[in-house]
Amino acid sequence: MKSRKLLVLLTIGLGHCLQLGAQEMTPVTVGEKTYQQYCAACHGAQMKNPQWGFDLGKFPRDSKIRFIDSVTYGKNAMPPWEDVLSKDQLEALWAYLQSVPASM
Ligand code: HEC
Repeated sequence: MKSRKLLVLLTIGLGHCLQLGAQEMTPVTVGEKTYQQYCAACHGAQMKNPQWGFDLGKFPRDSKIRFIDSVTYGKNAMPPWEDVLSKDQLEALWAYLQSVPASM
């Protein structure tokens, strides 16, 4: 009886771990990681309080083409990311931006 209970707990625990593992693979979490690695230094952690440059909280949430374009080819003081990021990473960054509430 006791060992059976343990087994149930183990199964639940394992399922939970697998679920967490799966969550790490969503575009949003991939985008968040990519953002922390390449963008946060200038645009601020969680896209808040940017050190300098553009507040991504204010980036229009319906302007995907402009986003991909600006990030790919750069804009003024922002370097281009064409040679650094894959298309999937750009898509993931866009997904992450969508997941962050717009600031006023
Ligand atoms: C070296 C600092 C720096 C880094 C790193 C950086 N940016 Fe920027 N970014 C800027 C600056 C400065 C601007 C404002 C450009 C302007 O409009 O003059 C900007 C503007 C933007 C814009 C607005 C472009 C538009 O159309 O108005 C987006 C979107 C953006 N950055 C996304 C990103 C993403 C995504 C990354 C990471 C891959 C990133 N940035 C990394 C400095 C940076």
